[in-house]
Amino acid sequence: WLGTAGTLLLAYLLGSLPFGLWLVKATRGVDIRRYGSGNIGTTNVLRVAGPRVAALVLLADAAKGWLPVVLARVAALGEPAAVLAGVAAMAGHSWSVWLGGKGGKGVATGLGVLLGLDYRAALAAFVVWIVVVAASRYSSLGSMAAAVSVPLWMALWQAPAAHLAFAVAAAVVVVVRHRANIGRLLRGEELPITLRIDPRG
Ligand code: G3P
Repeated sequence: WLGTAGTLLLAYLLGSLPFGLWLVKATRGVDIRRYGSGNIGTTNVLRVAGPRVAALVLLADAAKGWLPVVLARVAALGEPAAVLAGVAAMAGHSWSVWLGGKGGKGVATGLGVLLGLDYRAALAAFVVWIVVVAASRYSSLGSMAAAVSVPLWMALWQAPAAHLAFAVAAAVVVVVRHRANIGRLLRGEELPITLRIDPRG
């Protein structure tokens, strides 16, 4: 009953919900944007609030991407609408209406979209992330490598054009949102995923 426009709006608003900000505030009483990389995503939550809160944020942020795809499918809006709903959720997360147009980097939410669209691509991207992070200790490098690999995997197994279009759009969003990380990587100043920050210390 929502229609395509309503589903896209809902997807954007759902994507906008800053779970990382809220869950760190609720469990540690601090604003995560003042610590570490300043990002509200899983990696920075891991640094500031530990693995349990980070796992919750990963789940919640991924669900924000997965749910709109499922909604579009249940409403039988067609695959292009499902893809657009995924892009809207990623845009909401990255340019949140609740955070004055600021937000996260779209990685977990993009993973959730991929889980809905093509779980094999989500799995392949996750493996790329694990390998790159294990080798470098830089989550940002793993995220960008994973995002850029997805269009390649999809081309390899001849995924539908709409899915390939999502993969390209998602890779662009993820890389653009990592601009500050790219600068830090080039200067040798990137924060490793293993860094632990005590926000009260
Ligand atoms: O998903 C975000 C990750 O790729 C980078 O996080 O906190 O190191 O900027 P961060």
